[in-house]
Order: sequence, then C-alpha cells, then structure tokens
Amino acid sequence: MTGPAARPPAPHAGLTDTPVLRILVQGRSLAMQLCVLLKTAKIHDVGNVAFHGPLVNFIETVEQLFTAEGEFKLQAVGDFLYINQGRLKLDGSSYASYQYLIDEFRNRGLSGFAFNGKVTPPEVKKFVRLFLDVDVKAEDPYEGFSAALLKLSVEHLVPLRTVVPQTGAINVEEARDSRKVAKRTFYRAIEATKTVMLSGRDKKPIDLRKAKRAVQSIVDLILNEEFSLIGLTAIKNHDEYTFQHCVNVSILSISLGQRLGLNKKMLGELGVAAILHDLGKATIPGWVLNKPGKLTAEEWKLMTDHPVQGVKMISKLRGLNELALRAMIVAFEHHLNIDMSGYPKLGDHLAMSLFSRIVAISDCFDAMTAHRSYRRTPFTPYEALHHMLVANREKFDPLLIKAFVNTVGMYPAGTVVLLDTNEIGVVTEHNSRDIFRPKVKIVADRDRKKVDGALVDLSKREEGSDTYAVGIVSALIPEEYGVNVADALT
Ligand SMILES: [Fe+2]
Ligand SMILES: [Fe+2]
Repeated sequence: MTGPAARPPAPHAGLTDTPVLRILVQGRSLAMQLCVLLKTAKIHDVGNVAFHGPLVNFIETVEQLFTAEGEFKLQAVGDFLYINQGRLKLDGSSYASYQYLIDEFRNRGLSGFAFNGKVTPPEVKKFVRLFLDVDVKAEDPYEGFSAALLKLSVEHLVPLRTVVPQTGAINVEEARDSRKVAKRTFYRAIEATKTVMLSGRDKKPIDLRKAKRAVQSIVDLILNEEFSLIGLTAIKNHDEYTFQHCVNVSILSISLGQRLGLNKKMLGELGVAAILHDLGKATIPGWVLNKPGKLTAEEWKLMTDHPVQGVKMISKLRGLNELALRAMIVAFEHHLNIDMSGYPKLGDHLAMSLFSRIVAISDCFDAMTAHRSYRRTPFTPYEALHHMLVANREKFDPLLIKAFVNTVGMYPAGTVVLLDTNEIGVVTEHNSRDIFRPKVKIVADRDRKKVDGALVDLSKREEGSDTYAVGIVSALIPEEYGVNVADALT
C-alpha cells in the first residue's frame, strides 16, 4: 500500500461515493422537514393533526441517518448547512428553508444539533416547543434552551453551541479557531484546578465554581466535537503536571462517558469528580510526589493515603450535594482496581462505582504516559494502552476498557508511527469509525528528514478504489527517532 499522502479532506471529498451522496440527500430531507416542523408548530400546536405528517417524516429521516451514520450532526457554518462533514447543496427549492434554519439557529446561539439516537414523537414535540419558546433576546439563549431540553429529558437532540465565527465555509482558518477555543478551555481548566488544589493544600475553603465552569466548557467542546481535546492531553507540561493530570483525567473520562452515552448532566458530574480525584495529593509534600527512585515504607503510606485524604477534603466543601458525594466515592475508589488489588486495602469491598471505574482507566492511562521521576522515558500512549489491555487487564472493567480503546483509538494521540510510505508521523486525533486509522501529522519524510508535513487522515481511501492511501506499519519510540511529540500537537 504505497502512494501519495492523502490530502486534508475537502468539503466535497468523496461526493462520488454512493453512501455519501445518500447521506447528503437524507440530510437535505432532514433540513427541509425540520423547517416544515418549526413553521407548522408556529401556526398550530404540536398536538394538532397538521403536525402529525411532518413529525412522522422527520422521525423516519432521523432513523435512516442514524442507522447509516451512527451519531450525526446538522450544522450551519456561514451560509451553508452541513450534515456531518458534507455540505448540503443549495438550489432554488432549498434556499429559503436552509436560510430559515440558519437564521433560527443563529438567533439561539446554536450552530446546530447532534442527533445521538433515534427520536420518538413525544421527544420531538417537546424539542420543537422548547425551540420555539427560546428567549432569543436572552444574553445566552443556548444555555437556557440546553437546560430546558435536559430538564424534559430530550436527550437525543443535543444543541451545539456556536463556538466558531460563522463566516466562510469549514476551512483551515476555522479549524484554527476551534483549536484556539479548545486550548483556551484546556488552560483555563488547568488554572481552575490549580486554584482548587492549592486551596486544599493551604487548608483554605475550596471554591468549586471555576472548576465547574471549566468542566462545563470541556463537556460542551467534547459534545460539539469541534476539536479533539484528547490531543492536548498528550502534551505533558512537567511544571504544571499535577494540575494538568487532573484536567487530562477529566477530559479522558468525559470522552469515555460520552462514548457510553451518559447525558450532559452526568458528564458534568463525572468531569468534576475526575478533576477532584487526586485532591488528597495536595496533602503530600512535593519531594515525596516527585521523588526519584523507590519510596520508603513511610512515604508509600503517605502516598497511598491520598484517596482517604481526598474524601476528607471534599467532605468539607460547602453545601454537600450529590456531586460532592460522587466525587468522594471517586476519590476513595480510584486506586482500588476492580480485582481489589490496589489501595486502600478493604478486604471484601463492594463493586467500584461506574464513575470510579471510568476515572481509574483514564487515570492509569494518563499517569503511564507522563514523564515520571522514576522512569527514564515515559510509556508512549500506544505502549500504555497495550499494557493496560494485556498485563494489567484484571485491574480494569473489561467493557469500559474496550470503550476506552474506541475513545482514544488503538494508536492514541501522541503516538509516533511509521507509515507504509516510510514517512514518520505523530497521531493527532483518532477516527471513531476506524480505531486503527487515526489522523497523523507527518514529521519526517521518507529519508527521515524532519518536515512540517501534512495532516493525513488514514481512513481515506484512494480515489475510485477501496484501497487506503496510507497505512501504519508500527508504533515507534519517539526518543529513538528524535521526534518532539509536543511540537506536532501544538
Ligand atoms: Fe490518585
Ligand atoms: Fe491520578
């Protein structure tokens, strides 16, 4: 399998494929039907018989698209509508309907919707009512709408907040903008975590508001799938690693939770619990945390006490609520392991909670790939994943670890790979539809000369053929090839 490196996908890439064409045709139907639904509901109530026909058509189209695509998105970008990455073609008969939708979305601060399941008539009726009831003059109409949908359990139509300026089509500039938003969110979350951890260390009252807001932005970004935050977790900043670790674990846990179908509220709680999982470490002196070499029995006791210390600290949070209780359970259980081989030692403990099992996986993965004082070189993300899947498999929930592989891919972001073109690349993002074929940034050409190469989507096939343009031969150790992973990811 040799051939030219695949080019970054263009908006019309693959239009000759029948399935792609079919999805664009269904996408067009979906947009037209949504427009009819909204317009009908403005005149008649959703209970009126006039609403019934459009409702049935819309539900059928959602079902067809969901069967073909899995989760899919209908979004407005600039003056166009997109179904996933495919732009809906404008023509005389569709123009007015598309423009109507684009304006209605924009008025509500939305770029569109993700459909994460088949929808039912009651759900669509609630959705349409709430959509039309949005106060478009509110400071943040998206927020109220999103909360109202959640309150009425409308879970399969997820509103997407506008996070990029709505000018121009999907292009490099916009990709850069969404990357900027993602980075800002990431670094704000680190700052918020730092505040929480340092308050804990100094025995000051812990204010969770900033951390909660940061997690909410992470959840929004992950649900919007504008830009993969997982790539950012692969850049380990040694100075801030303790804080970054908590944010990384939060991002990985939310991503895994999304894969499992947790709703937005649950994802928010999971994200906050993950941020707080190592709060107890704030009580451990830095020299113990960063000690090169083996810990003494006393130091190990201090280290393994952090789950209990974490519970104590979270229990002091003002206004104990369900979120704090979940966070306490995660802090207490995240090192237990499902075979109870970890710590604290409890004898016959009940099963670990779902959140703890999720956080335990994200925690181990991130910790293994970090530069640790007692390892000369950290595990590569690829090695860490394989270690967890093989040598350590008894420690983790087998179903969740499979879902985790689907979340980060077999070659997680940050893995250095040798391609069958003999070029070397760094994985920047996984492809949810093919875990073996991620997106890769080329960093060395076939003569091993360093280059600032193209971003290649390994799931793309050669034009007019079933053959993939480029494939992975093996994962490499970055140090052996002089590859700076962080450079490729930033
Ligand atoms: Fe921990
Ligand atoms: Fe941790």
